[in-house]
Amino acid sequence: MRKKLVSGIKPTGTLHLGNYFGALKQFVDLQNEYDSNIFIADFHALTTIQEKEVLEKNIINIATDYLAAGIDPNKVNLFKQSDIPEVTQAAWIFNCITTMPFLMRAHSFKDAEAKDKEINVGVFDYPILMAADILLPSADVVPVGKDQKQHVEITRDIAEKFNRIYGETFKLPKPIILEETETVPGIDGRKMSKSYGNIIPLFATDEEIEKAVMSIRTDSKAPDEPKNPDEVIIYQIHKLILNEEEDKKIRGRYESGIGYKEAKDLLIKDLKSFIKPMREKREYWVNNPQKVKRILKKGAKKAKKEISKKMDEVRNKIGMNL
Ligand code: ADP
Ligand code: TRP
Repeated sequence: MRKKLVSGIKPTGTLHLGNYFGALKQFVDLQNEYDSNIFIADFHALTTIQEKEVLEKNIINIATDYLAAGIDPNKVNLFKQSDIPEVTQAAWIFNCITTMPFLMRAHSFKDAEAKDKEINVGVFDYPILMAADILLPSADVVPVGKDQKQHVEITRDIAEKFNRIYGETFKLPKPIILEETETVPGIDGRKMSKSYGNIIPLFATDEEIEKAVMSIRTDSKAPDEPKNPDEVIIYQIHKLILNEEEDKKIRGRYESGIGYKEAKDLLIKDLKSFIKPMREKREYWVNNPQKVKRILKKGAKKAKKEISKKMDEVRNKIGMNL
């Protein structure tokens, strides 16, 4: 039997190169090797989005993005998290075996708390729901960016605790985090993130590519001054889309001195050819929203089968199936 892969992305805005190289590309690259559940984490998005129209639009957009990026719905169960409400039941059960101090250690909670005193319970409970997403379908692997590593560790701890209390029930999942793309930098050099306004959209138009690349932060080195490519944000983004040979050539250019203007022009040219085919593929799905919705329904039906079976086992173990 093939191993199980589970991962999701929140529908909270435009997907960017960080999401693609940190997560989405792995989903596509691994879809032939693993039995995969890939979903739109709409329950998770509720911690920040509370407008019906915005959420609806984001959900359909991200479904379209998944398909345009190359997820094959014949190979992958592609669905919307909220179509499997069993995960919220499991989250409640996990709530009751998890202590407050344990969850208080989560970086995501600490960061949110530092920014906003009126933080909702959903933000605090976020890792528990994520554990339910991962454990119910018995995931072996969870491909994510580095910022999600701790959430997978929390998931493993919850699985171990449940197994200790109620007997062997859940598999312990492993994260898949690729070193080269674990944290893609944004145009300001911080982690590329929807919430920092420093993104290059994955489906950017030519104009958006030009605008974003032209705003990439640089230092004041003169054009002909030799540069260490690994310290230049333009290169750090460029290398994501270069093959080995191209990479060697570009590194050479930096080392012997390339002006930032020219480096940006080269990046713009390569990004345009990288993004164009995906954007064209996306057009097809944008024009066929009914097909997209059907794919999500079908994916949910398949995922629900295995998940409700596991949920039944859980209810039995905790003493609710009389
Ligand atoms: P954002 O930080 O933009 O809100 P999400 O939290 O929705 O992104 O992340 C979805 C997936 O993309 C996760 O697996 C996350 O680890 C990955 N990811 C997000 N930003 C980056 C980045 N800059 N580099 C690598 N992976 C990332
Ligand atoms: N928490 C993830 C993020 O912020 C999204 C997510 C929700 C997820 N449930 C998941 C990722 C289960 C992997 C597995 O990006």
